[in-house]
This record gives sequence, structure tokens and C-alpha cells, in this order.
Amino acid sequence: MDAVLLALDRAGVVPPLPPSHRHRHVGLERAGANLLENLLAKRCEVRGARLGEGVLGLQVGADAGVVLRSEPFVGILDLVAMVGTRDGAAGGAGCFGGGSHPTHASREGRVARATYAGGMASAPVRFGQYPPALRTIVHLSDTHFLDANRPLGGRFDTAANLGRTLQKVRGLGIRPDAIVVTGDLTDEGEPGAYRDLRELLEPLARELAAPLVWVAGNHDERPALREQLLDAEPTQEPVTGVWDLDGLRLIALDTSVPGWHHGNLDEGQLGWLREQLATPAPLGTLIAMHHPPIPSHLPFFDILELRDQQRLARVIAGTDVRGILAGHLHYSTSGTFAGVPVSVSAATCYTMNLARPAQQVNGMDAGQSFHLVHVYEATITHAVVPVVDADTGDYFSEEWVERMAALTPHERLEAFSRKRS
Ligand SMILES: [Fe+2]
Ligand SMILES: [Fe+2]
Repeated sequence: MDAVLLALDRAGVVPPLPPSHRHRHVGLERAGANLLENLLAKRCEVRGARLGEGVLGLQVGADAGVVLRSEPFVGILDLVAMVGTRDGAAGGAGCFGGGSHPTHASREGRVARATYAGGMASAPVRFGQYPPALRTIVHLSDTHFLDANRPLGGRFDTAANLGRTLQKVRGLGIRPDAIVVTGDLTDEGEPGAYRDLRELLEPLARELAAPLVWVAGNHDERPALREQLLDAEPTQEPVTGVWDLDGLRLIALDTSVPGWHHGNLDEGQLGWLREQLATPAPLGTLIAMHHPPIPSHLPFFDILELRDQQRLARVIAGTDVRGILAGHLHYSTSGTFAGVPVSVSAATCYTMNLARPAQQVNGMDAGQSFHLVHVYEATITHAVVPVVDADTGDYFSEEWVERMAALTPHERLEAFSRKRS
């Protein structure tokens, strides 16, 4: 099949691929059209996409200010790299309350996030009824660093375990819209532990052009966290923040209580949250907080729960909050709170061995994972990514996806859905 990429705007037809390139990367170009559609949908009005026999078309609204430069291009990767937006506004803008925080609010960040430069995996494809996710978030929790990488509890190498986790994040081949770490960043709140943690995570966030969202947990100390991670004044002010991830609002709450391990949200923070939520965000709001507002079947977590949860329920009732990301439990779980889905990511340092009676559950150096959060128009999914090294099959590959992409929907069903026996 002769695949040609045509990009249309009000001004006319941008030249298709030069004939010499018409047979290159057929599947990639189909995949790329989906990527471009998704990219443009994030910021720009897409008037419609059409897919003809061997022709991929994309029509974008002229009002959106999309610029498709007409230089010859050799593939979708180059095309996407040439896409810019008129206003130059970008995602990832945000700040922590009471202190500055590095963001990646730049047009370069937006374009870079969509270009798959530097060894990123191939573009998402759409073979089903759902378009690609509008936003993607990497959700880690409970790093529990100690100064000079002392073994946690005398047995867990927290730096090595986070290193393995970050290797898996890099292996995803994505550019997430944010990296969120939901608390217990350090075990004892030591400045050196925060510095070591920052040294590991900030390069990854820069590499992926994603804002890094630090959330305070009960093991953290606000002054050291503020000074070492946020370059802010070392005060006891709650570490809260708001990020605009291209229309998806992310709010970090601070459930830590200085001097205690249980969680709470005081009236000041709840009032601040109420003000933030007074205006809905285009794609809704996600809240990131350490103590999850759901039960645990483990008795010791009952003692350390978030107290007076109904006050939080009253604040988020009727707002655009679509989900709550949390940690604290050191095992992955989920539930609902005031009708809002809650997703708890397991720890990177150690996890709870749940295969025991609840009264006997303890930590183990296994089962670490993180969550890959996909935000769609009508739903949000939280995939648990195990941090393991295991022999993995090789049946599905980029070539396989390209082969599928070259088929019609009916041919794909025949090729992959029909039972052969
Ligand atoms: Fe923890
Ligand atoms: Fe905790």
C-alpha cells in the first residue's frame, strides 16, 4: 500500500511526502497520525481526521494557530517536530504554595514531549474505540531515603530500589505529563536524604521534560523538604501546590502532621483547596496526597490513617475532582472516597507482604511497583507496573504493531481475534 501523509489546513494542502519516501514507515505513519491527532487535541481544535485508501489525512482548525511548515519532510517524527502552537503556552506549569519550584513550562517542552527524540518508543496507535490517553502520569510513592543511604530498617537499600524503579520508568519509552511522588520521600527528614533523592529524580524529570511533583508524607519534615527539594524557606507551612497539565489540574495536599505519623488536613488547607476547586479545570482535577482516604485491612494503618476524612469529603463533593493519588500503605490498592476513585501506589523502598494474616503483615524487599496513570476523557486508569527483572516474551513487537496498523479494522479482527482452533 502506498501511504501518503497529507496535512490540510485552511490555507491549502501541505505538500505530501516526496515520492521517494512514499513507501517508508507505513505503519509508523499511521501510528503517527494518531499521535498527531492526540497532540493537536491537547491544545488545538482538530476539525476532523480522515483515513482513505493509502492516504492519511488530518484537518486542523485554522483558528488553532497550528503551523505545519511546508518544507519537505521524511516522516511523521519530523512532521510532529515541526508542529508548534501560536500562543506558545505549554503544559507542566505549576508551583508549590509558598515557594518556587522548577517547572518545565516551555514551548520546547511541549514539542519535545511529542517528538519521541532520544530513543523514545514509537507513537501510540488506536485499534480500539478509545483515542489515546489525553494525559499520562507516572505515580511513585514512599521512597523513604536515609542520609548516606543507610539501609532502611537495617535491611532495605532504598537508593538501589529506587534506581531499579527509575530504570523501569525510562524503559516505558514515554514522555509523561508529570511525575508524582506521593510522600514519605525520606524516612527521617534528613537534608542529605532529600539531596540524594533529588539527585536521582530531577535528571529523569529533565530528561522526560515532565514536572516533578513532591508530596509530603508522615516520615517527611516540612522545613527540610522545602529547603532541599523546593529551594524554599525551611518553614512548617504545608507543602501544597497546583499544576496545570495542559488543562488537567493536579493539586498536591500535605496530610502530614508535624511530630506525628497519622494524617490530617487543617482548616487552612481545606479552605485553600475549596478556593482552588471553585473554578473547574478543562480536564478536571487530580489530587495527590500521602494518607489515602480509604480503609486498610491492616490494623496498624488504622492508627495512622487520615483523621476526620468527612471534612475533606465535604470540600470535594460536587467539584471536578476525578481521582486521588496516594501512598503510605506500601501496597497497591484502590477504592472510592466521596464517589471519587482513590488509587494507592505501592512503595519503591519495600512493600507489605500481604500474603499473611493481617495481624502478621510486615515489610519485604519484593513486590515494588509504580503506577502508570492514563487520563482519558471519560475515565482514568491506574496500571500497576511491577519492578522486576524477568524473562519476557517477544511475540509483540513494533514490527507486529506496524503489520496490524497496515490492515483494515476488519482484517485486524480476522488476523488477531478469530480463534484458530
Ligand atoms: Fe511510607
Ligand atoms: Fe506514610
